Amino acid sequence: MGLMDDARNIQRKDPAARTLAEVMLLYPGFKILVNHRLANWLYRHGRRFLARWVSERGKRRTGIEIHPGAKIGPGLFIDHGSGIVIGETAEIGENCTIYHQVTLGGTGKDTGKRHPTIGNNVLIGAGSKLLGPITVGDNTRIAAGSVVLRDLPENVTAAGVPAVVVRRNGARVRPSDDLNQLDIPDLLSAKLTSIERRLSALEFGEGSLAETPGEIAGQQAAEEENRR
Ligand SMILES: CC(C)(COP(=O)(O)OP(=O)(O)OC[C@H]1O[C@@H](n2cnc3c(N)ncnc32)[C@H](O)[C@@H]1OP(=O)(O)O)[C@@H](O)C(=O)NCCC(=O)NCCS
Repeated sequence: MGLMDDARNIQRKDPAARTLAEVMLLYPGFKILVNHRLANWLYRHGRRFLARWVSERGKRRTGIEIHPGAKIGPGLFIDHGSGIVIGETAEIGENCTIYHQVTLGGTGKDTGKRHPTIGNNVLIGAGSKLLGPITVGDNTRIAAGSVVLRDLPENVTAAGVPAVVVRRNGARVRPSDDLNQLDIPDLLSAKLTSIERRLSALEFGEGSLAETPGEIAGQQAAEEENRR
C-alpha cells in the first residue's frame, strides 16, 4: 500500500475530509504514516539512531509517537492523533482505526515482546490504554477510555477499567450466559489436541509447544461460537 492509498483510505473513513490534498497537507494521521515508513525502513536496516531521530521529528510535528520498530499494517486510520503512543514491539494489523490519546504500551514488567498485538479491523476508542504483550482479535472494538490488560477475542466490544467484554458478535453479554450448562468445554478433547500439537511440534517443528489445554479449549469454544 503506497502513500496515495493511505491518503485515499483516510479520506474514505473521515466524513470531514473533503479532498486528498487536505488529507496529505493537513492531517497528522497521514503525516505520521509517511514519517513511520521512513523511520521503520531505517530501523530495519540497522540505522537505529537515525530512525529514532525521524520518529522524534514526527512526534514534534504531529503529537503522535510511534517507535520506529512498531509494525503497522496497511489501511491504518489515525483520527485526530494527539497523544498517541505506540511502543517498539507493538503490531497493528490491517484496516484499524485509532483515536487520539491511545497508548499501545508496556506494563514495565515485561522484556522482549512487551507491547500489544492488534488484529485486523480493530477500532480503539479515544483515550484507551492497552498495556503489555496482549492480543486483540480481529473486528474487535475497544470503547473510549478503556484500559485493556488481558487478551481480547475476535468480534467483541470491550469497555471499562479494566476492560471487559460487553458485546459478542453484536449481542449483549449477560452474566447468566456464564451459567450456560450446555456449552461446557470438552477438556478431554482439548487435552488430546494439546498432546497431538506438541508431538507435531517436536517431530516436525510445526505449531507451538506452548499451547495449554485451557487455551485449546478456549479456541474450540470460540470456533463453536463462530459456527453459530
Ligand atoms: C464502544 C463503541 C465502539 C461502540 O461499540 P458497540 O459494539 O456499538 O457497543 P454499544 O454502543 O452497543 O455499547 C455496548 C455497551 O458498552 C457501553 N459503552 C459504550 N461505550 C462505552 C465507553 N466508552 N465506556 C464505557 N462503556 C461504554 C454502552 O453503554 C453499552 O452498555 P450496555 O451493555 O449496558 O447497554 C463506542 O461506544 C466507542 O467508544 N467508540 C469510540 C469512539 C471514539 O473514541 N470517538 C472519538 C471521536 S473524537
